[in-house]
Amino acid sequence: MPDDSLTSGAAEWTRAVELDRLQPSRPIAVKLRGKHVALFVHQGQILACNNRCPHEGYPLVEGALDADCVLTCNWHNWKFDLRTGATIYGGDNLRIYPVKIEDGAVWLDTRDPPAAERTERALQHLDQALAEYDTARIARELARLGKAGAGPELALRRVVHATHARLRDGMTHAYAAADAWLSLRDTLADETQRLACATEALAYIA
Ligand code: FES
Repeated sequence: MPDDSLTSGAAEWTRAVELDRLQPSRPIAVKLRGKHVALFVHQGQILACNNRCPHEGYPLVEGALDADCVLTCNWHNWKFDLRTGATIYGGDNLRIYPVKIEDGAVWLDTRDPPAAERTERALQHLDQALAEYDTARIARELARLGKAGAGPELALRRVVHATHARLRDGMTHAYAAADAWLSLRDTLADETQRLACATEALAYIA
């Protein structure tokens, strides 16, 4: 069971859309407090998730929702349990949002979990990505780490700690290159290039 959607503290509800705009056959996308959200009707229940697929960001509102509440992304076939956000096929979990119905409208709580919680979650998911040598996911988790306010140095310390036993068999260029990648990153302004440098630093050690 994923916990990506859980947010502690009192809910902060925002009116998202009038209830009569939602139909089972026609999910809709809304933008709320800077978040892109897809809304679906499944067996009379309103369900909300991030409209940007965690794989490559394509709109999940264009995906297919089946009778078992499995949402399939139209682009590369990742599948999610829309009730929990758990990935059934693919990698990263899907962010889902709490929903309530009141005054003839759908209300959503789109708060993010605290930064410390998001940091820890990204580090745990990064461990999985490193173990599977999934470079694309390493990049995604590093991006999430950055959004939570943590730099790649934190992830690098973790991966060095996890792999340092290998040094008994000799040093590889990967450890030395990590410093060069992060130094190069510090000279760049473009976020994509900076993320690529951080990904290279970690992926070679993995
Ligand atoms: S963008 Fe959704 S599966 Fe690739």
